[in-house]
Parts: sequence; C-alpha cells; structure tokens
Amino acid sequence: MPSPNEILAELKKVKYPGFTRDIVSFGIIKDIEVAHAGVTVVLGAPSAKPEIIHQIAESVKQTVGAMTGVPAVEIRVEAPPPESQPRPQQTMARRSIPGVRHIVAIASGKGGVGKSTVAVNLALAMRALGWRVGLMDADVYGPSIAMMVGVEKSVALTPERKIIPLERFGIRYVSMALFINDETAVIWRGPMVTKLETEFLFNVEWGELDCLVLDLPPGTGDAQLTITQRVELAGGVVVTTPQEVALLDVKRGVEMFREVDVPVLGVVENMSYYLCRKCGKRHEIFSHGGGARYAAELGVPFLGELPILRELREGGDSGSPIVAVNPAHPVSGTFKEIAAEVIESVDTARN
Ligand SMILES: Nc1ncnc2c1ncn2[C@@H]1O[C@H](COP(=O)(O)OP(=O)(O)O)[C@@H](O)[C@H]1O
Ligand SMILES: [Mg+2]
Repeated sequence: MPSPNEILAELKKVKYPGFTRDIVSFGIIKDIEVAHAGVTVVLGAPSAKPEIIHQIAESVKQTVGAMTGVPAVEIRVEAPPPESQPRPQQTMARRSIPGVRHIVAIASGKGGVGKSTVAVNLALAMRALGWRVGLMDADVYGPSIAMMVGVEKSVALTPERKIIPLERFGIRYVSMALFINDETAVIWRGPMVTKLETEFLFNVEWGELDCLVLDLPPGTGDAQLTITQRVELAGGVVVTTPQEVALLDVKRGVEMFREVDVPVLGVVENMSYYLCRKCGKRHEIFSHGGGARYAAELGVPFLGELPILRELREGGDSGSPIVAVNPAHPVSGTFKEIAAEVIESVDTARN
C-alpha cells in the first residue's frame, strides 16, 4: 500500500480541469487516509463548480486506483461551509460598482515589496487574457503613477462630474495621485484619505469591466481594512518578498482579508530570486520558498514567484510595464499564469 506522500506525489500529475497546474498545488486535496481496506482522499474546493469537482474526483479515483497495492479508493468531498452569519462589520454597506463584475484588491504588509508592480502587470495580464480591466491606484504614497502613465496627465470629468479614467495599454486607469499634486492636495492627505478613496472609487465612470484591480495603500491597518470593508470585493491578493520580516506580513495580509470575509485568492512572492541576464541562471539571494510555505501554512493558494529583474524596475519606473511592452518575456508569462488563476477563482466563486 503506498504512503499518503506517495499518493500525493502521484496526484500532482492530475491537472485541474482547464489548467496546466495540478490539483495539489491548487489546494484541492485536503486529506489522504490510508487504511487496510483502501485509500480515502478528501477533496475540498468550496468555490469550484460541482461538475469540476466531479471531474476531479473521477481523475483522482482513477489515478490512485491505478497505483500498485491500492485495493479500493474512496473520494470524500468536504461540504462547503454553511453560509456565514453576517458579522457585525458586515452590516456596514458594502457597495459594488455598477458595470464592474469583479473587484480584486492587491495588498502588502509594507511598502516597497512590489505591490504596485504586481497590480499593474496583473491587470495587463488579465487584459491579455481577454478581460476588460480597470486599475485603480489607491496607493497614493508610492511613485506608482509613473508605472502606467509615465508622465503627469490630467483627468477629465463627465457632465455628471464623474471621473473619466485614462486609457493605456487597453486598460482603464485612475490614480489618486492624479489628484494629489494640485491645489486639492491638502484635502487628500491625512485621515480623510481613506474615506475619500472609497468615495473616489465610486465616482469613476468605469463603464463595463470584467475586473477592477485595486492597488491598496501599503500596510494592513485601519485604512486598508476600511476600504476592504466598504467595497464588494471578489478577492484579495497578498504580495510579499522572501525575507522573513516580509513573510510575517503575509499572515497579516491574509488575516486582514479574512477579518472582512474577503476570499484570499493567493500570495505572490516578488523579488524571489535573481535572474542573471548574462548566464540566464537563477540565483537565490534570500532563502527561497518562504512565500509558498507561508501560503500553505495559512491555507491559501500560492500564485507564483517573480524574479528581481531590471526590466521590471525600469518598465515600472518609466511607464512601460513588462506585460505590455514585452509580452513574450518569461516574466510576462508568469503574470499571465497568475492572472489565469485569479480569473478562475473569481469566476468560480461567483457561480
Ligand atoms: N521584481 C522586481 N525586480 C526589480 N525591481 C522591482 C521588482 N518589483 C518591484 N521593483 C521595483 O521596486 C520598487 C518598489 O516597487 P513598487 O511596486 O512600487 O512597490 P510597492 O507598491 O509595494 O511600494 C519600484 O522601483 C519597482 O520598480
Ligand atoms: Mg506602490
């Protein structure tokens, strides 16, 4: 009889329907019990459609059943959690944006980990996969505006005084920072920022979007919590770097979303390793793999890792993000994989 680990290794060969990634890394396998009578595999995928679960169950049964020494295979599907009771904070009105199907928030424990870089390129990658995408930069404290528009631009209003987003690389884009450098600067600062940010979000003429990517201000404090509480979010993504200190923040990021009942779509580890341009080799600078390990410990998906790369920095700093200007680059490929997963998660969650 094979050990649970051997069975798990075998199940890594089973792809999630429609994806190149396997069901193990998707977090579908919740438990494997090996007993005399046979093997029981417990599946859990609260957000997947029943036919997908059925398909996975069949493949698991076949794969495990084909292993030598397995007399019988039983599949158990974890019941989805009962509809959660509204929590006190949830009684606060959560608003959706008319015309916008999904809103995904990008968070990080602190500034400088590449949250805006990930937000911009993830938005562009979703666009590349055919989604109509908007990007709202609510991270007013970073220089992230340059990432999309490169230079200072001004914003026009509709006759109803709604903000008309800028268009670049096929996505709609608005940054709080666009409003910060003029005479209104004073009112956008301080504790009013959060409140205004939320209002601001609803005052943009987004039009029809499949997804609005929300680049949250760095940190997991009250300001971020307020935004995540007021807006109807399809999910949150937490960006980290591999250093231990940053990884501790992953937990905070995940907890922040959980506290307000927002599904955590996963963790992205940025600046994971150094990709040498000369030799093409990958050099581990920090102890590697922490993001994936923490994600597993916290029970959330690990979406992927991105190298330290000059093109990522230069592209961001000069308003030419890599996914838009170099779609064939392997890192653009990684962003598309992450985007595909995010798309899958938010779409299945809704159905
Ligand atoms: N993977 C990366 N490789 C190289 N430079 C990066 C990478 N990710 C981000 N940067 C650079 O690091 C700085 C901080 O990134 P940014 O996305 O603004 O972080 P945050 O929004 O978390 O503050 C920027 O100059 C950006 O271009
Ligand atoms: Mg930023």
